[in-house]
Amino acid sequence: MTKAIIRRDFLKAAAAGTGIAAVGLPATATAIAAAAEATPFRHGVASGDPLPDAVIIWTRVTPVPEAAPGSGAGGPAEVTWQVAADPGFQQIAASGTLTTGPERDHTVKVDVRGLEAATTYHYRFLFDGVASPAGLTRTAPRPEAEVDGLRLGVVSCSNWEAGHFSAYRHLAARGDLFGVVHLGDYIYEYRRGEFAARGTVVRPHEPAHEILSLADYRTRHGQYKTDPDLQALHAACPWMIVWDDHEVANDSWSGGAENHDPATEGPWAPRLAASRQAYFEWMPVRTGPAGEIYRTLRFGTLADLTMLDLRSYRSRQTSGIEVDDPGRTMTGQAQMDWLRSVLSGGGARWRLIGNSVMISPLALGSLPAHLLGPLRRLLGVPEGGYALNSDQWDGYTVERKRLLAALPDNTVFLTGDIHTSWANEVPRTAATYPASPSLAVEFVVPSVTSDNVDDFLRAEPRTISLTAEGLVRAANRHVRGVELDSHGYGVLDVNPDRVQMDWFAISNRSRADAASSWLASFASAHGSRRLRRAYRPVPF
Ligand SMILES: [Fe+2]
Repeated sequence: MTKAIIRRDFLKAAAAGTGIAAVGLPATATAIAAAAEATPFRHGVASGDPLPDAVIIWTRVTPVPEAAPGSGAGGPAEVTWQVAADPGFQQIAASGTLTTGPERDHTVKVDVRGLEAATTYHYRFLFDGVASPAGLTRTAPRPEAEVDGLRLGVVSCSNWEAGHFSAYRHLAARGDLFGVVHLGDYIYEYRRGEFAARGTVVRPHEPAHEILSLADYRTRHGQYKTDPDLQALHAACPWMIVWDDHEVANDSWSGGAENHDPATEGPWAPRLAASRQAYFEWMPVRTGPAGEIYRTLRFGTLADLTMLDLRSYRSRQTSGIEVDDPGRTMTGQAQMDWLRSVLSGGGARWRLIGNSVMISPLALGSLPAHLLGPLRRLLGVPEGGYALNSDQWDGYTVERKRLLAALPDNTVFLTGDIHTSWANEVPRTAATYPASPSLAVEFVVPSVTSDNVDDFLRAEPRTISLTAEGLVRAANRHVRGVELDSHGYGVLDVNPDRVQMDWFAISNRSRADAASSWLASFASAHGSRRLRRAYRPVPF
């Protein structure tokens, strides 16, 4: 029986010869470029969605130099995959061979079955006598297994043009994570220069134009997968991901997007289909029988993680009192029925919900205009300063009420989307708080790189935003902590008694060697639905 799934053995396994060590970063840009040229596996390896007997492994092969992502060039390529108990690949647990080709952009994705529960595995791919870098992954414990610890990296909003993915590098270097939760905006769709770092492109997007076609989405995914920090974190542990809007286009809904103009960009459906096809080719995610990606993963008795799809089925964003229309939906009926049944079922001691957009209500009406402007741009608050951002759950109030009424007392929302860091006690309604009880806690992680408040203000970090943070908290008593300037990542530590989120900031997203520093921590005792500040991050 598994007692713990987060142990130093994970770190030791990583350091033993493959895994993190084997995919360690070349020291110089020249070496990185040379390594990329020398291998048919220039997009790294990845794994995801661990089950007790299965995990998805992924790579992309470049069989001939001209077979670049999105090119359609290059013929069929036979690739062998291996999953082993040891770093030397002597004890093969599962293996196979498959043929990939331009019809799937030469990606390779295998849902490996028949594995042992709660077990660390090494995996790699072989093509034309060349072995890929080895990745490290792990299966989940069985649902009935007693588990006393779970630690996850939590990230969102990684915009290539806005900087380097140092958040990924620092997470990969820890060696103590069971896995990584990515809450969306893994890629951005914009044309070169449209959404960079305070208007400055740190590194340009490929292709140069806004991505619209299947070839475009494949090219963009391929570019992101060349990032050495991204490759290191994918190779270090399994990821559990969900898309938000920018995997297709800004502020998307079921029938379109703010950043989609049918008059000049054509119909929505083929663009959506192209983005989804490239996503499924390039990301280590498992889909359900109807192609859905909302799903629950479970980690023994300790925790389950329900990942929501809040883009594919939602009603169009609106404003004013229309947000209270009971006919509006964020999840779609089928996903909401499924979610309510998941939450009312047995479940684990902690119910984690991967929720791409903030569920806590937000009022900003009392902010002065000079602060409201940048916040409006970031959060999408209407001109009149209404107490909502209608792209978040604030735009779907009736459905939110139905969901909040169904929450067990051990629910933790993990949220991204708004590029800033928040620790919230989720109230029944904002207006009556603090009389309204807290129904759950919510941890919002900052962007890996995407612009936030000081960037929009072109201000020094931790200057003018301090005023905004104070005002946000004054108008939103359920917000226990908020930080509007930093880029970085979260680390969620779960044990039977409490969950704790540690926020970390990177020093400079424009530098590939940015440092990481601890920002803040909040914890919640089991069953309390409340937050308390923690004064040190969990040791690792
Ligand atoms: Fe984002």
